[in-house]
Amino acid sequence: MQGKVVIVGGTGGIGSALARKLAPSGRPLHLVARDAGRLSALASELGASFATADVTDPASLRSAIEAGGSSLSGLVYAVGTITLKPVSRVAPADAERDFRVNALGALAAVQAALPALRAQGAGGSIVLFSTVAVQRGFPMHASIAMAKGAVEGLTRALAAELAPEIRVNAIAPSLTRTPLAEGLTKNAAMAEAIARQHPLRRLGEPEDSASLAAFLLSPESGWITGQVIAVDGGRAALEAKG
Ligand SMILES: NC(=O)c1ccc[n+]([C@@H]2O[C@H](COP(=O)([O-])OP(=O)(O)OC[C@H]3O[C@@H](n4cnc5c(N)ncnc54)[C@H](OP(=O)(O)O)[C@@H]3O)[C@@H](O)[C@H]2O)c1
Repeated sequence: MQGKVVIVGGTGGIGSALARKLAPSGRPLHLVARDAGRLSALASELGASFATADVTDPASLRSAIEAGGSSLSGLVYAVGTITLKPVSRVAPADAERDFRVNALGALAAVQAALPALRAQGAGGSIVLFSTVAVQRGFPMHASIAMAKGAVEGLTRALAAELAPEIRVNAIAPSLTRTPLAEGLTKNAAMAEAIARQHPLRRLGEPEDSASLAAFLLSPESGWITGQVIAVDGGRAALEAKG
């Protein structure tokens, strides 16, 4: 049996899809988020352990991750924000919150998990989340693009520092049907218009990113580190047909 995986944001759209994908293989899971009720329901369904934390409070995040045990094989940080505003309306507090939740939270999660990842020896894997809006520029994305750009830098720096024992990669999704993106996807006409901007002509489903995260956690990706991999229906690299 492979070692325990901590999923921060484990009750979210992508985090819970990943937990559901990993659980049948018997891989032990530890879920972290804020809402104890949702955590407890999912953890009992999947036979996982869980702890509550707010990622903007590094001390609570550390103890929630440490509650996962002294030996880990994987850490996934699947927490994020979507602050879409014209740059003239981005308040310092918006940018600070985006940076705190997306970038500083990821750093604090890695720092908290590192002793347990190292305790397992070689073969550890860390998966972080960026966004399509770093590789490709979109209006209204200044604050989130800044914060996720930091996550991409963190991914490469950590991959270099933690090799060869621990691999570090990031996933960069385009718009994916999760609670985070509901403000954009709940309007069917808007969702359809955005879907058409993707060469693969649909929005992402949580399982699209969860499948890649599961692969990046597995030994099958054992020679992949320091990569930011798009799960975006081709949106960052390709022009959609008219
Ligand atoms: N969905 C998209 O379109 C999209 C696009 C690009 C990138 N991404 C990235 O993909 C990752 C996963 O996103 P998602 O769409 O699955 O998000 P989601 O459905 O909103 O899930 C977020 C998860 O994080 C937890 N969480 C949120 N704020 C937290 C906080 N302050 N402290 C602790 N836990 C917190 C939530 O649970 P609680 O509320 O109980 O805390 C939930 O478990 C994120 O990094 C996001 O930026 C998503």
